[in-house]
Amino acid sequence: MTTNSSYYSKRPTTEDFRLELLPPSLFRDASVLDIGCNEGWITCQIAQSKGARKVVGVDIDDTLIRDAWKRRRTVWSTQKPSRTSTDDKDTASHDEPSRKKRKVERNTDLENTDGELEESGLDPEYFPSSCEHMFGPLPIPPKGAADTAFPHNVVFHTADWVTSDIPEDIEGYDVVVAFSVSKWIHLNGGDEGLMRFFRRVYAVLNRGGAFVFEPQEWDGYHKAKRMDPLLKEIGNRLQLRPENFERILTKMGFSSPEHLGRPGEGGFKRPIDLYRKPL
Ligand SMILES: C[S@@+](CC[C@H](N)C(=O)[O-])C[C@H]1O[C@@H](n2cnc3c(N)ncnc32)[C@H](O)[C@@H]1O
Repeated sequence: MTTNSSYYSKRPTTEDFRLELLPPSLFRDASVLDIGCNEGWITCQIAQSKGARKVVGVDIDDTLIRDAWKRRRTVWSTQKPSRTSTDDKDTASHDEPSRKKRKVERNTDLENTDGELEESGLDPEYFPSSCEHMFGPLPIPPKGAADTAFPHNVVFHTADWVTSDIPEDIEGYDVVVAFSVSKWIHLNGGDEGLMRFFRRVYAVLNRGGAFVFEPQEWDGYHKAKRMDPLLKEIGNRLQLRPENFERILTKMGFSSPEHLGRPGEGGFKRPIDLYRKPL
């Protein structure tokens, strides 16, 4: 299995431009699955600042999942300490805010521009990351009432999600995110593996749920095939092409997608498509 560590050294380090394209209300109070979450950067962003109730990141590579748990703590460590109802004396702390307060923070965040984030109380980059290097990460607070707020609203699992279930699948999700993972699933599992992946996404989505899909383009498959003889062998037998995916997904029952744009640069300039499972 060929995977991607240090992926985010090639990706932007602040708000991911792919998330910026999505409707602001998409994640609000949603349960979200991030397939191929890598080191959990996007997963943590969705959990921290997009108002999601629960976010599950899954990746086939256990090393990446261990890094994702660390990422959660790093993200928590740079976040502005929350003010509790008793902090009029400037006793800001990293204690969990009340569920009500955090909900206000999250919703305000969704509606405001970046400049107003500070005012809402949610400032993801309040402490410089050098603090963690100098003093270590801040401890994760005990789970309290606010387990639908970051950092308690995010979990990670190691699994080949195409072939194995994870515990949260059974409850279903409101949003499934699959950014830049279809090429790897396609090259490792062939056309059959890709079709299984699409069917699984459809099955785990709740009615009315959204599938946010960023497929890699066919041109990019060649580079991956050069990296590994097995991928080359499977790749040479593929019949399906990324340009067929829309037809396959709509035939499966998804609505016609909203094409939200092609952000990114160079090899990362890929379509972001939003499919809906009918109500
Ligand atoms: C190119 S990275 C994309 C990371 C992230 N989604 C993003 O776009 O920022 C692809 C990730 O998918 C993971 N992956 C590949 N096949 C998978 C599978 N069958 N199940 C779960 N994760 C998989 C890889 O380990 C890798 O971390």
